[in-house]
Amino acid sequence: FIPPRAAGSGGGVTAKDELGNNVTATGWLATHKEGDRSLVQGLKGDPTYLLVEGGEAIGDYGINAICTHLGCVVPWNSGANKFICPCHGSQYDATGKVVRGPAPLSLALAHVSVENDNVFLSQWTETDFRTGEKAWWA
Ligand code: FES
Repeated sequence: FIPPRAAGSGGGVTAKDELGNNVTATGWLATHKEGDRSLVQGLKGDPTYLLVEGGEAIGDYGINAICTHLGCVVPWNSGANKFICPCHGSQYDATGKVVRGPAPLSLALAHVSVENDNVFLSQWTETDFRTGEKAWWA
């Protein structure tokens, strides 16, 4: 039995895969290698990248894939080590920080936590660590 996520922790959701199944850390790490950035359904159903970091761990933040220009879903390009938007060519580095327009802002962040092997996403309302500025999406 897994108790429902406590209130007051930011109204998190369980990450879901493309079939709508809950993402588990062990399942994800069995099929995604270090450096991987792949999509889950996150907050409000938004496509959100989970990061696999050194030591076979899921990174503690996720990157919202919705381009800040006009809302296309931005694919990860592992060869270029960037997210590159197919619509108008905006580019974001591996943390989702915008490095080339026309996108005006970096990709939104979400907190990621693993509890009882379930992967949770919750609102990121703190400072954007990539820019040192207020989270524009909060
Ligand atoms: Fe991504 Fe325009 S929607 S660059």
